[in-house]
Amino acid sequence: MYQSNKQKLERVVPDVELRYKAELAVEINRLKSERNAVILGHNYMEPALYYSIPDYVGDSLELSRKASQTDKDVIVFCGVRFMAETAKILNPTKTVLLPAKRAGCSLAESITAADVRVLRKKFPGVPVVTYVNTYADVKAESDICCTSGNAVAVVNSLHADTIIFLPDEYLAGNVARETGKHIIFPTRTEGGLQADTSLDYQMVGWHGRCEVHEKFTVKDIRDVRAQFPEVSILAHPECSPEVTAAADFSGSTGAMIKYVQESQAPQYLLLTECAMGDNIAAANPEKDMLRLCSVRCPHMNEITLEDTLKALQAFQYVIEVPEEIRVRAYRAVERMIAIG
Ligand code: 13P
Ligand code: SF4
Repeated sequence: MYQSNKQKLERVVPDVELRYKAELAVEINRLKSERNAVILGHNYMEPALYYSIPDYVGDSLELSRKASQTDKDVIVFCGVRFMAETAKILNPTKTVLLPAKRAGCSLAESITAADVRVLRKKFPGVPVVTYVNTYADVKAESDICCTSGNAVAVVNSLHADTIIFLPDEYLAGNVARETGKHIIFPTRTEGGLQADTSLDYQMVGWHGRCEVHEKFTVKDIRDVRAQFPEVSILAHPECSPEVTAAADFSGSTGAMIKYVQESQAPQYLLLTECAMGDNIAAANPEKDMLRLCSVRCPHMNEITLEDTLKALQAFQYVIEVPEEIRVRAYRAVERMIAIG
């Protein structure tokens, strides 16, 4: 394990860390087969974890599919809580473990099921599309879910004049631009939710934001282009519409990985969580990854090899979704998966 990780990761992880983490990874992999578990790793996992213990790595959509298909008894989700919940929603007879209790998400925290019910009242009959970065009770109030990888396809599949798109303000803005829809954002006042419904609009958004992607600016892009004119800039769709418009490519974490693999630019700048830059740099040693940042998602960062080992040893932290919520959330997630 140490030798194979050293080959891939010596440029991005210090040697002493590689040795120590290889020992942990070997023990995790031994326990994984003893417990008949599968480990799913999101693309934002730190490199030593990403390259040593997951059976599958990928973006939210790819991992949801793997979670729904597995025949193992236990799913260990190296990602954040909403992802582990989605695995439980899709495959409820399995034990789903999230290695860190506090691995949340600023988007998931930005909206409640009661908020969705209020929106439905305000915009009767308008279908609700919910980003998977939400908790199960919010999914349960929705007609269909989407990820950053299929948001446009999901919106187009509805053939609706108007849709409610929750909760990411920036993803909604990016989808509105791609689908040619005009978007409005209700505001919260003491008198409740207010929206200027006299305007011509086809999308209703919400003011949720990813605390990582909201940090990137058009000035960052300009500064890097001035220094590296041939750089290819990739921005996750949770970045603002101004940032994605100024980038060369915008797509899910999985789509960004594919884009770097398949293109020939001399340098790349990834406007997303930083661990993914390390993972891509390790897989593409001949390509230069420019480092703008140390913008780690504090929630993804909670997931460590140490905690993953504890998760398998102590069977913690078990993800439960009340059945009444799960069946309603399942409809919304399953509808999304059917679209692709
Ligand atoms: P992806 O679906 O693109 O992997 O994104 C998940 C996420 O949380 C991005 O911040
Ligand atoms: Fe949530 Fe942003 Fe972290 Fe993704 S990067 S899990 S959207 S806070």
